[in-house]
Amino acid sequence: MSDPAIRVRDESGIGVVEIDHPPVNALARPVRAALLEAIERLAHDPAVQAIVIHGCGRHFIAGADVREFDAPPAEPLLHEVLNRVEALDKPVIAALHGTTLGGGAELALASHYRCATPDLSFGFPEIKLGLLPGAGGTVRLPRLVGIRRALELMTSGTPIGIAAARELGLVDHELRGDVLAGAVAFARERIAAGAPPRRTTDLPMPAPESPTVFADARAALSAAARRVPASEAIIAAVEASASQSWRAALAAARERFDACRRSTESRALRHLFFAERVPPPAGTPQPVATVGVVGAGTMGSGIAIAAAAAGLEVTLVDAQDAALAAGLGRIERHFADAQRKGRLDAAGAAAATARVRGATTLEALAPVDLVIEAVFESLEVKRGVFAELGRACRPGAVLATNTSTLDVDAIAAASGRPADVVGMHFFSPAQVMRLLEIVRGRDTAPAVLATAFALGKRLGKIGVVVGNGFGFVGNRMLYAYGREKELMMLEGATPIEIDRALETFGMAMGPNAVGDLAGLDIGYAVRRGWRERPDDPRFYRVSDLLVEQGRLGQKNGRGFYRYEPGGRRGTPDPEVDALIRAEAERLGIARRAIGADEIVERCMLALIDEGVRLLEEGIAARASDIDLVWCHGYGFPRERGGPMFYADTLGLGHVLERIRCYARTRGPRYWTPTASLERLARDGGRLADEPSAPTTSATGRG
Ligand code: 3HC
Repeated sequence: MSDPAIRVRDESGIGVVEIDHPPVNALARPVRAALLEAIERLAHDPAVQAIVIHGCGRHFIAGADVREFDAPPAEPLLHEVLNRVEALDKPVIAALHGTTLGGGAELALASHYRCATPDLSFGFPEIKLGLLPGAGGTVRLPRLVGIRRALELMTSGTPIGIAAARELGLVDHELRGDVLAGAVAFARERIAAGAPPRRTTDLPMPAPESPTVFADARAALSAAARRVPASEAIIAAVEASASQSWRAALAAARERFDACRRSTESRALRHLFFAERVPPPAGTPQPVATVGVVGAGTMGSGIAIAAAAAGLEVTLVDAQDAALAAGLGRIERHFADAQRKGRLDAAGAAAATARVRGATTLEALAPVDLVIEAVFESLEVKRGVFAELGRACRPGAVLATNTSTLDVDAIAAASGRPADVVGMHFFSPAQVMRLLEIVRGRDTAPAVLATAFALGKRLGKIGVVVGNGFGFVGNRMLYAYGREKELMMLEGATPIEIDRALETFGMAMGPNAVGDLAGLDIGYAVRRGWRERPDDPRFYRVSDLLVEQGRLGQKNGRGFYRYEPGGRRGTPDPEVDALIRAEAERLGIARRAIGADEIVERCMLALIDEGVRLLEEGIAARASDIDLVWCHGYGFPRERGGPMFYADTLGLGHVLERIRCYARTRGPRYWTPTASLERLARDGGRLADEPSAPTTSATGRG
């Protein structure tokens, strides 16, 4: 056999092909070559009456090898191997279990029979990588499950379990116990019954369930899905199949696959796929079974929900009885809702709720393994809490602060045990948002950092280790991004023009709508707390003005927009436009019409520039970490890969030239390119290729 990943053996007339290519049996080129060789050998072995294909380990096959997609496809091509499997004149049985995705699911469809164990997760996640199923999925799946369901499965990328797979006829036989033994027994039954090979492509392409089935599929795409060319490519490939032979349809689908593979959107999504699998920091994590959360507000109760949902015992502390009761109430309602929506059964919801208990003093945290502080964002308040935690918690317990902007070292110093202290910056709502910034303080012990990272993973978060500097990565970049949109409002853009331009670019929400949702007074209070404020009267002047006029956002129905009572969609308010115009006049700023292109460009360049500075300062270790922060914490469009990936797609020479252009037209105050951007642009480099640096604790904080 050309690759040890494939083993073949004869079990009394049943040829067993075992794919053993950890971690996920991805169909890399050598695996494809060996698989082809194996089935040819078994096809020509007269003693073999049927063939069983089995994937070793936890997965059947997780798909094609995504790492190969940066280069043109190498032979043998997956669809050719699968066509050969289907063409065999001995029955081929796919023994499915666990993850059966993408190219793995396509191999199952090309097999003549499919049996599976109850842990099956079967699906076509290609769309999440900006691809379409390129090895026959668009041709075979509709023939088996009908056009509507095939389109749903392939455009959503959501896998189905055994029950749905059986109902759709994708699985012929459910196995109990050992998958391989069951599949071999099933193969013997097929032979005994004289069952012939059963080729999916022999089935006719089914008639559309309704004349509007393709239009319906297009209409069902979300705005984000529409921005990924593969969504339309999937629908068009199935639509075209209706009037073509399966071979012609497959050839056309291959062309579409290759175009998608080369698209910026797919490259961006693949970049994020690998960035999301960040290696853990060095250090051995300490075991964590019990967690304390200090502060029962929205953030604290969200963190408690996330921890309880992950099976941890939680003690929620708030000195105020009423605040504690409100927090515990929120947690109970969350799990009751989860039960009502069918995400948890009654026992699961009751157990999760019971895992959280309340307390009003920090002494209750004496035995816990790890504490997350989520009290009011004030250095004095947090230092007070950490001084008490340092005394109350057992030696070795990890003490984490959820600060979003403050100096973790200053908080750590108050505890008297700074090696135990780390930042764990959750994003609101903490039970939903996947981003977790893990802040390495100057004295944070490696084991403490590793413990925070491991806990984040357990809570289902994407943990990104960042250095200790004002706003860490996300919020510091947010200030640069927000600064530009604020300046542009004074220069002539309206709040809704800003939001529309950035939402059309792909941001989940425009920055003004986000401000109204979060409460404009929050950012205002943070800016008041700065020790060094920029000496620029225009800096965040519009937001400040709104707060000073009593416009706090959705919470009081008036912010950048006006809101109906209880409403979440704001409408533009002429009063706000008048306020901004008057302020611009007071500051002597000439107003002009600002187009969507300029709005997007200035906001993106501000983000990119600040990101490059964070890399230079070692606050971010690698460009892909910044991309994770922005895609998972701030609604940056995934198909653009994050601000740093986006900068690389623009070309750093172009980025530099545009920053220099703004330096000429708008002044150098915010538009001075960094040395590393100049260097990379000169050398034709990419941010993605910058070597990663250990994160640091910055000096000279704002
Ligand atoms: N190709 C290459 N590497 C892959 C891979 C793939 N398809 N799937 C997973 N891996 C790697 C991961 O990068 C990771 O590597 P690392 O240990 O070096 O970081 C390792 O396998 C383990 O992956 P996870 O950390 O994600 O492990 P989990 O157990 O949490 O999840 C999984 C396993 C559900 C299989 C998840 O990895 C996954 O969803 N993989 C992607 C599946 C996919 O998108 N398949 C479609 C591929 S495209 C295709 O098939 C095209 C075809 O139509 C022609």
